[in-house]
Amino acid sequence: MSVDSQILRALHRKSGSASGADLAEHLGISRAAVWARIEDLRTLGYQIEASPHEGYRLTATPDLLHSDDLLARLDDGCVIGRDIQVFQQTTSTNDIVERLARDGVPEGVVVFAESQTKGRGRLGRKWVSPSGRGLWFSLLLRPPWPPSQVTQITITAAVSLSRAVSRVTGIYPEIKWPNDLLHDGKKFAGILTELSAEPEMVRHVVVGIGMDVNVDEADFPEDVRELATSLRAVTGRAVDRARLATQILRELDADYARLLLGRFDEISSEWMERCQTIGREVSITMGGRQLVGRAEALDVDGALLVRSEHGRLERVVGGDVRVGRVGA
Ligand code: BTN
Repeated sequence: MSVDSQILRALHRKSGSASGADLAEHLGISRAAVWARIEDLRTLGYQIEASPHEGYRLTATPDLLHSDDLLARLDDGCVIGRDIQVFQQTTSTNDIVERLARDGVPEGVVVFAESQTKGRGRLGRKWVSPSGRGLWFSLLLRPPWPPSQVTQITITAAVSLSRAVSRVTGIYPEIKWPNDLLHDGKKFAGILTELSAEPEMVRHVVVGIGMDVNVDEADFPEDVRELATSLRAVTGRAVDRARLATQILRELDADYARLLLGRFDEISSEWMERCQTIGREVSITMGGRQLVGRAEALDVDGALLVRSEHGRLERVVGGDVRVGRVGA
């Protein structure tokens, strides 16, 4: 962990102040070196008060994603978030993580971008990622599973995101199968899971997450304006992106650990509680086919079980889902 990260961790954890002498001793550097690091953090926008008697106190953080700060806020020993990289701009964070995966980087690395020029969503859609307004990030997982189980990851990520948003903002998002987070029927987050696998075994999974945190309505393309919202629009105030990002990573880390222990049933029950799709009429477009019916439950691997209008129970593993009576 870098010196800046350790300083920020000490400042985040101390409800009072951290003395320069304590920091210097803990970090094995001089007090002057601590001061120089503090000055650098100030130039980034961290407001750090210094008092001769009490030491340093963090009074405000800037609205930016800084890897040292994100790492400082997470606990040691986490898998998801063990390494965090932040880009000011990239094409798509999924592409960066895909490259890291092919280079053999261990699972758990997370890549954020303040903006993406080629952000993509499911079904080949474009994902608009305005600079500094959202959380656009991807993580690398290497679960020792057959490819068929990977839907569990998307389901789990939706639960983790939803819980983190509840904890940080107080709102209770609805989940739309498999990967959308909504408030009052309007989407503010989505998940794009991309898989590389052998027939029997996953090589790696890239989980891309896009969350419209402080996005303005005007930032959305006109064709989605009616269907999209942001946490700021919903709560009426700007949401601290770094705090939300770290809460999401904590929840993802805890839930992924549960998944690896075979406890998908616990996650699936929470998903059912938070989901607006189950029990509703759905119309699903999969490839060239349309399935109309009622969503009944989640299967053990995360697939959606739909009772078709002809009375057959069908398993759905992907597709574009519309909730509500067709034509309604
Ligand atoms: C969807 O709902 O269609 C999924 C949207 C996923 C968007 C995120 S933003 C970070 C990552 N990089 C991408 O290009 N896409 C995902």
